Amino acid sequence: MRTVTIGLLGCGTVGQAVLQLLQRREAIFADLGVQLSVCGVLVRDLTQARDVPAGTPFTGDPAFLGECSIVVELMGGVDRPLGLLAPVLRSKRPVVTANKAMLAERWDTLREYALGGQLYYESAVMAGTPIIGPMSTVLRASRFVRLQAVLNGTCAYILSQMESGKPYVQALAEAQALGYAETPPTLDVGGFDTAHKLAVLARFCADGDFRYGDVKVTGIEGVTLDDIAAAKAAGEKIKLVATLERDGDGWRAEVAPTRLPDSHPICTAGEGRNAMVYQGEECGELVFAGGGAGGLVTASAVVGDIMDCVLGFPGHVPLH
Ligand code: NDP
Ligand code: HSE
Repeated sequence: MRTVTIGLLGCGTVGQAVLQLLQRREAIFADLGVQLSVCGVLVRDLTQARDVPAGTPFTGDPAFLGECSIVVELMGGVDRPLGLLAPVLRSKRPVVTANKAMLAERWDTLREYALGGQLYYESAVMAGTPIIGPMSTVLRASRFVRLQAVLNGTCAYILSQMESGKPYVQALAEAQALGYAETPPTLDVGGFDTAHKLAVLARFCADGDFRYGDVKVTGIEGVTLDDIAAAKAAGEKIKLVATLERDGDGWRAEVAPTRLPDSHPICTAGEGRNAMVYQGEECGELVFAGGGAGGLVTASAVVGDIMDCVLGFPGHVPLH
């Protein structure tokens, strides 16, 4: 049995669920001949009670990062996590992250490590619903045409609750309580989190160096109960939709509240769910749908990435 040491940055909604799930899956790692050992968990507040296995080594000092073989980043933000991860990446160790903001906005720094297979980030888009896996592997054989997707669980939840007449502010507070929302939630409701995710996806199917700034963004703050009722009367729903499609020699990437017929696959995917309709010339139209936010659903993808890493599979390699 070989011991693999893991360091965790952050232990909030996702971090706690990852520690719980790693404990539940000990036997699977043991079948792979691996015993995982968590050598440090970086948090800000060392007094906070957390729902994690006994003996979890919390610390406010990131020095443990020098010792662990895999680093899992679940703290959020952009420059702070990048500053902590940069030495790890330079030392050629693997990083697992759910942080789409950092991936989208610091690609100039991260791209070379992603190309080298050192970065694992299935959980960064659609949480536990696998989409980066297929887009970084089999789907590349088919010429990409277009994708349309709901990629933000908070907005999906808010809009579905507003369909039954709940006020926006109350629905947002509930999404925050469920652990879906970013800090601050403007990232969600302003459409920026969806734009981060769209930029990450575009690098697998459109342009390996796709710029986050090239996504046109409109959020859901201006959507009213009246707008939703008018759509409903017409047999439609309002969703925050990310679209990526060919536009001449380039690409059109946009995030905006959009009316879709009730029969559209994004609407039939279910209330509050993430969903994507992916069109490739040869693969045709594919639909992916499932949970897109929350502790355990996200942890399932993070732990899946850790398994891939332990098995020696490369991380998610974008287009060259
Ligand atoms: P939380 O806010 O619940 O947790 C963040 C954790 O990071 C906390 O434990 C916090 O410490 C720690 N942290 C933050 N800043 C610092 C710092 N400067 N130094 C030390 N520790 C710090 O976030 P989530 O778990 O919801 O999200 C984590 C990441 O996963 C984000 O990148 C998010 O975008 C991504 N993600 C989240 C999903 C979700 O459904 N929640 C789904 C998919 C991805 P403390 O607890 O002490 O404050
Ligand atoms: N805040 C994000 C969302 C978390 O609501 O989708 C998952 O990426």
